[in-house]
Amino acid sequence: MCGIVGYIGKQEAQEILLEGLKKLEYRGYDSAGIAVLEQGELVVSKTVGKLANLEAVLEQNPIKGTIGIGHTRWATHGRPSDENSHPHQDCKGKLAVVHNGIIENYMQLKEWLQSEGHSFVSETDTEVIPHLLEHFYTGDLEETVQNVITKLEGSFAFVVIAKDAPQKLIAARKDSPLVVGLGEGEYFIASDIPAILKYTRKAYILNDGELAILTPEAVRVTDSIGKAIEKEVFEVNWDAVAAEKDGYEHFMLKEIYEQPRALRETMSARLSNDNKKVVLEEVKLTAADVAKIKKIYIVACGTAFHAGMVGKYVIEKIAKIPVEVDIASEFRYRDPLLDDEDLVIVVSQSGETADTLAALREAKNKGARVIAVTNVVGSSVAREADDVLYTWAGPEIAVASTKAYTTQLIGMYLIGIYLAQLKEVITEEKAQEIITAMRQLPSKAETVLGNIEKIKELIQPYSKVEDVFFLGRGIDYAVALEGSLKLKEISYIHAEAYAAGELKHGTLALIEEGILVVALATQMDIFDKMVSNIKEVKARDASVLGLTFRGNNELIKTVDEVIYIPKTHELLAPVLTVIPLQILSYYIAVARGCDVDKPRNLAKSVTVE
Ligand code: AGP
Repeated sequence: MCGIVGYIGKQEAQEILLEGLKKLEYRGYDSAGIAVLEQGELVVSKTVGKLANLEAVLEQNPIKGTIGIGHTRWATHGRPSDENSHPHQDCKGKLAVVHNGIIENYMQLKEWLQSEGHSFVSETDTEVIPHLLEHFYTGDLEETVQNVITKLEGSFAFVVIAKDAPQKLIAARKDSPLVVGLGEGEYFIASDIPAILKYTRKAYILNDGELAILTPEAVRVTDSIGKAIEKEVFEVNWDAVAAEKDGYEHFMLKEIYEQPRALRETMSARLSNDNKKVVLEEVKLTAADVAKIKKIYIVACGTAFHAGMVGKYVIEKIAKIPVEVDIASEFRYRDPLLDDEDLVIVVSQSGETADTLAALREAKNKGARVIAVTNVVGSSVAREADDVLYTWAGPEIAVASTKAYTTQLIGMYLIGIYLAQLKEVITEEKAQEIITAMRQLPSKAETVLGNIEKIKELIQPYSKVEDVFFLGRGIDYAVALEGSLKLKEISYIHAEAYAAGELKHGTLALIEEGILVVALATQMDIFDKMVSNIKEVKARDASVLGLTFRGNNELIKTVDEVIYIPKTHELLAPVLTVIPLQILSYYIAVARGCDVDKPRNLAKSVTVE
């Protein structure tokens, strides 16, 4: 994980590095540090904790210089501490490295370097890089980096700054993202575009195996043996303000409110004007391709996996193709039975999740066609998939995913209808019924958000609960899983999701007074069964908060309180039911004084296994 940034130009590097790191803190915030060349000397400042700690240190002891690198860490190898913070240095302090990724063979390398006389100060895998650079230094930093990367196994994006090469930054990548920013007489390198957006909109992505050599005059890109590579510069067209908080207390709340717009943007250009068709220009499947599909695998992690679970219900129901949903970290190692008659859909907000990317590669190796549903243009997942369906949620900064999830759901509906059309298993009337209902989702989401104060009031008595169970059947169960994850990750409350009919097979033993049960009941064919399951928990004195469509007057007879959502097509219910669950998690976390946007132990983009 981690965020890295580098600057070379005429301005004071410290400020630019700190600004960049602020935008990368979503990638990790266990510690932060910078290294800047100050009058020919390499000066490093780093400290455990959030970036604010480093800012405070630098305010007291600023570093002056126009070339530097910076890092914000999500701890993998070694606990969060000053020593384990990046940048890491060689024995003589002549060079410094910031790194994102995991060097898998670091133990062997470390032991060997130690036997060669190198002394280490941290527990990190990263520290082997500066020592290797020191060990193999030929007087030519570029050549040395080329040599050192051949010794590294695992994933890396790193940037090196060296006292002996004062007019240079060298960056290299393998399986971890890096973007180069091109300014006027100044150049940037970073893990992600928001870090450079304040200074330039001209950028290109560094590919695996490439090196970028930044000097005050230009940036040169080469392959791993020094052969020059021409890069295609693109113009970043997002609104920089979209990545800011816009007056909301937290990014999460802002992003919850952005859902109507995000839903609209993700679906509108893909629905025909007469609401009879889904048009996915970016997915190039033919009717013959679809006829050949034996099975679909949806592979993802966390929230994206939960969107995939909804996708299973939707695709099986509409397109009549069997779907398996897999957790990417499991899928990649279970030798899945895949071939060119299978379709794999990977879902990832960031497009950089290491396990999802590995699962994608596994699927491609086995000959399956891969569609990516992702929110980040040019991300690794987007670049490696056969077809890409972008969710247009805009940058999602809060660690807890909200608008990315609801737009991923739209992705699932679009793909479901698209496949059904190509397979000719959906009538025009049926497609029109679902598409018309989809078009109404953004305004219905606005209605749910219009009730935010009411929802806030309703959940107020529950801010001190210690155990919450989310129950649902069918597609409601998939949303229950997402509700439970949301609550856990930002409020640190123990929460579990259960298929309501499964509770009596063991977990019912945990239900007692003081426990909150959130019961989703939007699927009318199984509504009575759901009510029976709610009665089972009521009989054990749990408090029950129900969720159903407006107009349902039955649920309130069994539960303590009901949150009503506008009526929609039952398959589309997840897009609306999840919003009160996001709001519930948000306000409970705020009431408990949690750091909503940056929950402990987590990071936005999980680029390690
Ligand atoms: C969601 O709130 C999480 N923070 C997390 O589960 C996330 O969805 C997961 O890490 C997958 O990320 P991706 O969508 O960027 O691949």
